[in-house]
Amino acid sequence: MCGITARVGDDDSLEALLGSLENLEYRGYDSAGIAMQNGSELAISKCEGEVSDLRSELAFTGQNGRVGIGHTRWSTHGPPTDENAHPHTGCHGRVAVVHNGIIENYAELREELRTRGHEFTSDTDTEVIPHLVEEELGAGRDAETAFRRAIDRLEGSYAIAMIVDDDPTIYATRNGSPLVVGVGETANYLASDVPAFLEFTDRVVYLEDDDVVAVTVDGHRITDATGDPISRSIETVDWDPEDAEKGSYDHYMLKEIHEQPMALRQTLHGRIDDDDVVLEEFPSGTFDDVSRVQLVACGTSYHAGMYGEWLLSNWGIDADTHIASEYAAYPAPVDENTLVIGVTQSGETADTLEALASARRRGARTLALTNVIGSTAARTCDDALFIRAGPEIGVAATKTFSSQVASLVLLGERLVRDVTGEPTEDHRQRLDALESLPEHVEMVTQDTLATAISRRWLGESGHFFIGRGNAYSVALEGALKFKEITYEHAEGFAAGELKHGPLALVTPETPVFAVGTGEHRNRLESNINEIQTRGAPVIAIAPRNATELADTADEFLPVPATHPDLVAILANVQLQLIAYHAADEMDRSIDKPRNLAKSVTVE
Ligand code: G6P
Repeated sequence: MCGITARVGDDDSLEALLGSLENLEYRGYDSAGIAMQNGSELAISKCEGEVSDLRSELAFTGQNGRVGIGHTRWSTHGPPTDENAHPHTGCHGRVAVVHNGIIENYAELREELRTRGHEFTSDTDTEVIPHLVEEELGAGRDAETAFRRAIDRLEGSYAIAMIVDDDPTIYATRNGSPLVVGVGETANYLASDVPAFLEFTDRVVYLEDDDVVAVTVDGHRITDATGDPISRSIETVDWDPEDAEKGSYDHYMLKEIHEQPMALRQTLHGRIDDDDVVLEEFPSGTFDDVSRVQLVACGTSYHAGMYGEWLLSNWGIDADTHIASEYAAYPAPVDENTLVIGVTQSGETADTLEALASARRRGARTLALTNVIGSTAARTCDDALFIRAGPEIGVAATKTFSSQVASLVLLGERLVRDVTGEPTEDHRQRLDALESLPEHVEMVTQDTLATAISRRWLGESGHFFIGRGNAYSVALEGALKFKEITYEHAEGFAAGELKHGPLALVTPETPVFAVGTGEHRNRLESNINEIQTRGAPVIAIAPRNATELADTADEFLPVPATHPDLVAILANVQLQLIAYHAADEMDRSIDKPRNLAKSVTVE
């Protein structure tokens, strides 16, 4: 998985391309590179490391041009080295290519090209593409035909952009990896995702699989695999360019934690009317036939899915959550009355897309719960519900978790009403609490206690997170956030399960973060006692009025008292802040943790 970008303008493109790559670094940051065309030849600069390293390297070359492509990499084939960085070129340097995805038949193609005398300089699967194109150019074909003929040979998933030495056009295509055209006034763009060029244009065209696009300074032309013209609509995205910038915050993650009240307001806007749920996409009766719900997701989205499962099951709907990579290989039974919900911030996670495809193939109805309009999940599922959280750049997901859970509360209410003919029992109170959620989250983000707690309770040999009910999914999420950005050991457990094994790990050096929702207080209290007996400090995160927890725990981090179904969302914000401040104290690479990428488009 990687980020690709391209620009052709009536002025130099280098600075805009570097900015685009910086905005795409959430997709990978092992190495970066740019190829520019100056009218008659190509110049390529690439190096191991982040875009900032590439920027320093380019400062010495003076390389520029009106047409260019760029890439930021998350390694799949070959280690992150200068040689393996994109763009890649062929033997004659006539073609430069950037690629996101995996070419599955690259080994055969490489062998075949080798027997015809081609020499390879990298370990990547991508490098076969420019060699194939150069052969076609050598046979006298024009650049577009050469590109098409090369693409025809590829198997796998890809978004590819290509420039050649003597043609001011960018050629690109996609199959299973995202690619968007940005339509500007004096320049046009291509990228894996909209934030790449959002500061220049908000007018976008989402490409479909097998589209081939030729982009020039004057416009773009899309054709299908056989070369017939296709018309795709230009859409306007309503994201503010500032949403995709860091502003006065030290890290995107901190900015995104603080953006949660605003993100939630957007998520909920117009969707609650008195005691009714108004989902434009899903009028009353949409889910009449649903008898079972399966949620498929990865990472943070999986934890949001678990939260959704807990809500639905509690309301009498047959619901299960599945890790998407497992579901793709070992799918659960479905029928035409099964609704499979893909919870995915990006809408591009390969494991989740594959799980959804498997459900679809077997006759289930699919729904994408996603943040990205035009994403593959949104376009390939039968239905889509957008969480409207705005762009999230930090690799560790924060605001999108809150917006996913809030959306699942709304969707769940719609489902229950359609399936049972009745609203949920205490819908009135829950919907009121949901409307107050942005304000309650604001109270948490303005609270500074998490900073001191993160420093005071940094464990020597591990950090455990426990919870019951929906707080169990938040315990898992709290641990995931902590390990992702501090690189310290952290693990989440169902509070009652601790005594069945993990308690063996509990010592005075392992702080335990206990999430309480206000329900079953006695049970959580006895779990806390079990832990304290083994000498471990307990930090309770629970509603302000849970006074007995405040008295029992070694430390108490309160959140506003609200409906018990929603308390854990607030507790999760405290856990995000704890992870953030602990990682900041340890000087970690918070927005780009080692080995991780925001959008994992490989299985
Ligand atoms: C990656 C990211 C996680 C994210 C997961 C699912 O692993 O590092 O933060 O939760 O993908 O992403 P999605 O876009 O499907 O929600």
